[in-house]
Amino acid sequence: MQTITDRFHAQRLDAQDELASFRQRFVIADPEMIYLDGNSLGRLPQATPTALDELVETAWGERLIRGWNEGWLEAPVRVGGKITRLLGAQPDEVIMADSTSVNLFKLLVAALEARPDRHKIVTDDLNFPSDLYIMQGAARLLGREIELVVVPSPDGIYGPVAGLAEAIDGETAVLSLSHTVFKSGYTYDMAALTAVAHEAGALTLWDLSHSAGAVLLDLNGAQADLAVGCTYKYLNGGPGAPAFLYVRRDLQETLHNPISGWMGQRNAFDFGLTYEPAPGLHRFLTGTPSIVAITAVSAGVDLLLEAGMDRLRAKSIAQTDYLIGLWQAWLEPLGFRLNSPRESAWRGSHVSLGHDDGWRIAQALIQEAHVLPDFRRPDNIRLGIAPLYTSYTEIHDALARLRQVVTDRLYDRYPADTEGIVT
Ligand SMILES: Cc1ncc(COP(=O)(O)O)c(C=O)c1O
Repeated sequence: MQTITDRFHAQRLDAQDELASFRQRFVIADPEMIYLDGNSLGRLPQATPTALDELVETAWGERLIRGWNEGWLEAPVRVGGKITRLLGAQPDEVIMADSTSVNLFKLLVAALEARPDRHKIVTDDLNFPSDLYIMQGAARLLGREIELVVVPSPDGIYGPVAGLAEAIDGETAVLSLSHTVFKSGYTYDMAALTAVAHEAGALTLWDLSHSAGAVLLDLNGAQADLAVGCTYKYLNGGPGAPAFLYVRRDLQETLHNPISGWMGQRNAFDFGLTYEPAPGLHRFLTGTPSIVAITAVSAGVDLLLEAGMDRLRAKSIAQTDYLIGLWQAWLEPLGFRLNSPRESAWRGSHVSLGHDDGWRIAQALIQEAHVLPDFRRPDNIRLGIAPLYTSYTEIHDALARLRQVVTDRLYDRYPADTEGIVT
């Protein structure tokens, strides 16, 4: 009888996988290397270099400045419009701009200014540190006392839902959370928490960096107010790819971009000397968009739209469940802890495994076993599943190699205290 630890089982799952052919649409430079870091930097789609060549050689090389009138100016909205289909939003509710951190700053300040008589930002301690830094910076600038309430998670894995509900009150201007948190992969119930925030008269601002392209999102259905997210993870937009921001349509005219640059000006090319916000989402632009980078994002997003989020999410659940099954069979007895929710309903598309020697094991896994995960302190070996290109056999082999790194003590020669590398 076959069990889930048999390699044949993984191969059979790959053979039955209707999304399996999408893997060929990516550059796989080293087929021996198992890449489980698509949740930090997605693989390069085959279509991207072609799209970039064409942009550079034809649009830039030949059309030069005319390119701005031939589609470039609209690129942030056009590609943002594609992304809305992954987020459950209207085509005119998402625009591409800047980085996630900068967009968070813009929308956070806009939200705080829209609730001038309230003084609280509510968040949690699972949030991405940059988000907290932005909150601290925005609070300092506003010229009124802003209290940042950071609700602690009970266990470092699950979001503190009850604590958040308790913290949100009539003084709260905005609830700002990572929808899927970066270490454990816990995913909040967006609709439920948005309802709690709205009940108290607060706005919601979601960071979708680990959710976009990874889980099913319905921003409109949840009545979410504001959101930001990056495109270099599951959307495969490339290193430093521009971020996106979402503002619910009925809020767009009521909010103000604190970084009021010319691209958000009503008639930018009139070069008037007084800022007047553009109608709709355009006001959340600041400076000249990176057309080269947005072109790369567009090629990445096209693949997700072709595969369809329903199928991608179903495969992500099946694969993360499979990974957890292998952890239980092979790794739990070796001292690995599951640092992610076990129930798929509460989980994004990455799984964190903790171990007392996690950092050394992660280094050995990369150097000795040709598996590329990432590591998040104190003990999380973070394994990202990108269902567009991750195969079941890769998951099988990665966990088999992880087991071997520990049983053969291949990590013994790695130091416990090195710092400073990206993964
Ligand atoms: C959840 C989350 N938010 C924000 C950021 C920061 O994004 P950026 O560097 O685009 O500002 C990251 C980066 O990985 C992230 O994972």
